[in-house]
Amino acid sequence: MIQIQDLSFTYKNGESPALQEISLTVPDGGFLGIIGPAGAGKTTLARAAAGIIPHHYPGDFYGSVTVNGLDTVDSSIIDLSRLVGMVFQDVDSQIISPLVEDEMLYGLENFGVSREEIPQRMEEALEKVGIADLRDRSIASLSGGQRQKVAIASIIALKPRILVLDEPTGELDPRSSRQIFSLLKELNEEQGITIILIEQKIMLLCEFARQLAVLSKGRIVRQGDTREVLSHAEELQALGVNCPRVTTLSRVLSEKTGAEQPVCINLDEAENMVRRLIP
Ligand SMILES: Nc1ncnc2c1ncn2[C@@H]1O[C@H](COP(=O)(O)OP(=O)(O)OP(=O)(O)O)[C@@H](O)[C@H]1O
Ligand SMILES: [Mg+2]
Repeated sequence: MIQIQDLSFTYKNGESPALQEISLTVPDGGFLGIIGPAGAGKTTLARAAAGIIPHHYPGDFYGSVTVNGLDTVDSSIIDLSRLVGMVFQDVDSQIISPLVEDEMLYGLENFGVSREEIPQRMEEALEKVGIADLRDRSIASLSGGQRQKVAIASIIALKPRILVLDEPTGELDPRSSRQIFSLLKELNEEQGITIILIEQKIMLLCEFARQLAVLSKGRIVRQGDTREVLSHAEELQALGVNCPRVTTLSRVLSEKTGAEQPVCINLDEAENMVRRLIP
């Protein structure tokens, strides 16, 4: 469980707070999506949830962040990284080895995974992310999307109980993006891994995340169940966050037909609604 209480953070060289009075709880086995316009503080919040802030980014830190009961300020980054795996928005700052296999090995060896177990962990993670064929490639020869998949695979191989992913599909095509989301869903539902996912692809996010938090100018302006948050479409629009088209469609249909309907958050729901209202 991640518990954030009254967190405010200003980067050392920052002019104004990147986060202000953030309170947020992500329960064990939760799947939280974070949305918000550019510069809202999404990455900063992800870094704070993983303990990278304040350990790697100095600044003024107020409030508290606890991960499975460990206060991130008092705990070492090594202990925290065993609990929380983070996939960075900028993958190139995450990958440090010249070869895919070395990159995977680096984390596994650092985590003290036994020699016997390493090959299986590596294979499984590469397979799950769909890049078993890239294992012997050099990182420099990979596309941005392929590097992104390597970063995801090397974190998943470490089997953290909590995963924080900062726009992990930014470089991926729609099919690969869906594949990564499905993998996260599987980890969440079958292994109870807690997921915090920052994502611009709102349609996809809303299909998978059970809860949403909306950030704007360093503050959480709305949080709750995905459907509840999406029912405030106009407010989100005003902040520069687009709602999924199915949500807009269901809202317009409700208005035009006078039917009191909760907003739809996926294609199946929208299809059912259309069939019901337009015979
Ligand atoms: N390392 C840093 N040093 C100083 N200021 C920073 C640093 N990283 C981010 N900031 C500032 O903190 C604020 C929030 O940035 P952050 O990267 O968290 O936003 P974001 O929501 O992730 O944006 P994006 O959608 O562009 O990824 C911005 O004003 C940004 O300029
Ligand atoms: Mg960001």
